[in-house]
Amino acid sequence: MSGQDELQELVGAAIGEIEAAEDIRALDEVRVKYLGKKGLVSAQMKELGKLDPEQRRERGRVLNEARQQLEKAIASRRAALEKRALEEKLAKERVDVTLPARPERAGVVHPVSHVWEEVVEIFADLGFSVAEGPHIETDWYNFEALNIPPEHPARQEHDTFYFHEKEDGARKLLRTHTSPVQIHTMETQQPPIRIIAPGRVFRCDSDPTHTPVFHQVEALVIDRDTHMGHLKWTLEEFCKAFFETENVKMRFRASHFPFTEPSMEVDINCSWEGGQVKVGEGDDWLEILGSGMVHPNVLRAGGIDPDEWQGYAFGIGIDRLAMLKYGIPDLRAFFDADIRWLKHYGFSALQIPTLAGGLSA
Ligand code: DAH
Repeated sequence: MSGQDELQELVGAAIGEIEAAEDIRALDEVRVKYLGKKGLVSAQMKELGKLDPEQRRERGRVLNEARQQLEKAIASRRAALEKRALEEKLAKERVDVTLPARPERAGVVHPVSHVWEEVVEIFADLGFSVAEGPHIETDWYNFEALNIPPEHPARQEHDTFYFHEKEDGARKLLRTHTSPVQIHTMETQQPPIRIIAPGRVFRCDSDPTHTPVFHQVEALVIDRDTHMGHLKWTLEEFCKAFFETENVKMRFRASHFPFTEPSMEVDINCSWEGGQVKVGEGDDWLEILGSGMVHPNVLRAGGIDPDEWQGYAFGIGIDRLAMLKYGIPDLRAFFDADIRWLKHYGFSALQIPTLAGGLSA
């Protein structure tokens, strides 16, 4: 048999094996067997040195052609195998998103997330839009711009988590309240302003009624003649809508915050009988929010002229709201990630709160 015939036989065998390779690994083995460094085609290449120049040129050309033919066959087999693997994967991993959730596998929505959505829904209906701000703040946004200068005693009330000091002495911090969003909003929007800012806040504090992470929703309304009456009405409307009853009793107490003047705190009437919290009965009160008329210094810090504009702000504890509305006694359980607790107090993902459809229904 001539060298030529032998080579053709080799190529024929190789093509047969390439076609028969059922996966990429098998194909790779065939490639190594024929085209690898110690492969059968490569071995013939090595023989070239023994031939005289004329023969070598001719034999070299034939061998190269054979090599290219095999490379092409391998590439096209590889493409076919990859396409088939992708199709199989797509068929296997197909998800029919129109199928209903299987109850035994359904996750639950945390009460905080649910209440967050309820709050957004109520304020959206009152014409508020939702604003956001960063969790990591500077001293300016969290304190100074809110009329809390460095030595102010209010700083001690905020058990702040600080980051390491920079070379210039500046220290970033985890925001201790959502009030910094007031300043971010004033910087980016011209009045009239009507926003709420729900979000996560952080304080270095932990006992039965305090956790290092909790949630607040800030509100800011700035216009030419916004006054305390608007503030009180908005809070009353909010509470009625949120607790889904006309019978919410609220107590407005004069208070003090550096960023508002005058300031008031609002308590909700409730009872704690038998470890159960109930709104609108008993003679206990739970503080749910701080509020007031925005201090002129805060407006100025946000670049707004206090002689032209005025308004109110408030900050509500979202976790407190959830405890009150859904009778959840212990705040710390919110963050335990205990699946039994979540199943008990959580909400179905399909239970989206709407005013028309009912918030908690
Ligand atoms: N930032 C305050 C806190 O975390 C809550 C608060 C009080 C927010 C009064 C306000 C306000 O907007 O007007 O304790």
